[in-house]
Amino acid sequence: MKANPGGNLDPDKVYGRDELIAALWERLETQSVLMNAERRSGKTQILRKMLVEPKAGWKPVFRDLERIHSAQEFAELVYDDIQQFLGKGVRAKNFLQRLLEENETDYINLKSRTWKQLLITAVEDLMKAKTAEKLVFFWDEVPYMLESICRRDGLQIAAEVLDAIRSLRVEQSRFRLVFTGSIGLHHVLGKLSAGGIPTSATNDMYPVAVPPLTLFHARRLAADLLDGERIASWDRESAAELIALEVDCFPYYIHHVVAGLRIEQLAATEPNIVEFVSRQMVSSADPWQLAHFRTRLASYYPIGDDARNATIILDVLALTERASDAMLVNEVLDRSRSHGAIVNNRDDFVRLLRLMDADHYLSRDREGGYRFRFPLIRRWWKLDRGL
Ligand SMILES: Nc1ncnc2c1ncn2[C@@H]1O[C@H](COP(=O)(O)OP(=O)(O)O)[C@@H](O)[C@H]1O
Ligand SMILES: [Mg+2]
Repeated sequence: MKANPGGNLDPDKVYGRDELIAALWERLETQSVLMNAERRSGKTQILRKMLVEPKAGWKPVFRDLERIHSAQEFAELVYDDIQQFLGKGVRAKNFLQRLLEENETDYINLKSRTWKQLLITAVEDLMKAKTAEKLVFFWDEVPYMLESICRRDGLQIAAEVLDAIRSLRVEQSRFRLVFTGSIGLHHVLGKLSAGGIPTSATNDMYPVAVPPLTLFHARRLAADLLDGERIASWDRESAAELIALEVDCFPYYIHHVVAGLRIEQLAATEPNIVEFVSRQMVSSADPWQLAHFRTRLASYYPIGDDARNATIILDVLALTERASDAMLVNEVLDRSRSHGAIVNNRDDFVRLLRLMDADHYLSRDREGGYRFRFPLIRRWWKLDRGL
C-alpha cells in the first residue's frame, strides 16, 4: 500500500476501525451520533468506509458541510438528497419556485422563511415514504458550517438551524444523523449562549470519541506502508513499531513518516525515523501544521486571560518528568500562578481546564489529574516554546 497522508482511502485501506464502525451502526439503530475528535484522527475515513460498505438495510448520504455557508444552502442540500433518495428528483429550486407561485409574496420574505419549511418538508416526506432502506445522513464538519452560518446569516439563524434539526430528531423517531466535528460544537453553542441564545441542540445525540489507532493496528499500517513504498529496514516489525510509537498511533502521521522516508530515500532505521519526526516538529515550514495548536488558543479561549493562562497550563504540564505524569488541579493552579498566570477565581481556572480537555489538549487520569492528551503534541509544545 502506498502512503497517502491526507487523501481519501479505499475502504480496505482504513485500518483498525471495524469495531468502532460496528458500534456506530448498532447505535444508529436507536439514536443519532455526534463524533468529535481532533482533526486528522480519521473521522472522515470512518464515514467514507461506512458510506461505501453500509450495513444491510441502511442508505448513507455523505456531505462535507465545510463548504456550506448559509441556512438556505443547507436546507436545499438536504432537500435534494432526500428527493434523490426517494427517486423523485425534484430539485429544491423547483420547490422554491412552486412556493413562490403558490404564495404571492415577495421573494425576499419567502426566502427568509423557506429554508426551515424546505428542511421540514423534506424530512417529513422521507419519514412518510415506505422505503426498503433507511436513510442516514453523514454530516461531516457540522461546526464549521454553523460558524459560517453565524457569520453570513447571524447567530439567531444558526441557532434556528440547530433547533430545527433537533426538533426533527425528536419528532421523527426514525430520522438518523451522524455529525462530526474537529472543533467541538461547544464552541458554537458557547458563542450562541454568549449572544443570549442558549440552545441544548445536541443533548439527545450519542457522543462518540475517535481515538488514534491501537498500537496493534498502527504497527500493521506502518509495516504495510513500508512494504508498499519499498523502504529498506533492518527489522520491519521494530521499524513499524517505532514509527507508530513516535507519532502516538495517529494514522495520518504514520502515512506522513513513511511518505517522508520514501521521498528523502531514507532507510527505516531507528535514527532516521526519530530524526525525521523531530525535524517535522522544528521545521519553520511546519509540514504537520502543529502551530495550529498554538494559534487557535486565542480564538478558542477569548474570555479575559484564558488564552494566556492556557498557554501557561500547557507549559506547566509539558515540564513534568514523563508525558504520562498527571497533575491535580491545585498543583496545576499553584504552578501556573508561579509561571505568571493571573487567576482571580479558582472556578474560572477549573472551567478553563475542562475546556482544554474538551478541545483535546488535555485528558484526565482516574484520580482526576490533568496531563497532555497526546505525547506527540507535548513534545512539539516543548520544542515550540523552547522549554
Ligand atoms: N483508519 C485509518 N487507516 C489508515 N489511514 C488513516 C486512517 N484514518 C485516517 N488515516 C489517514 O489520516 C488522514 C486523515 O484522516 P481523516 O479521516 O481525513 O481525518 P479527520 O476527518 O478526522 O480530519 C487520511 O487521509 C489518511 O491518510
Ligand atoms: Mg475530516
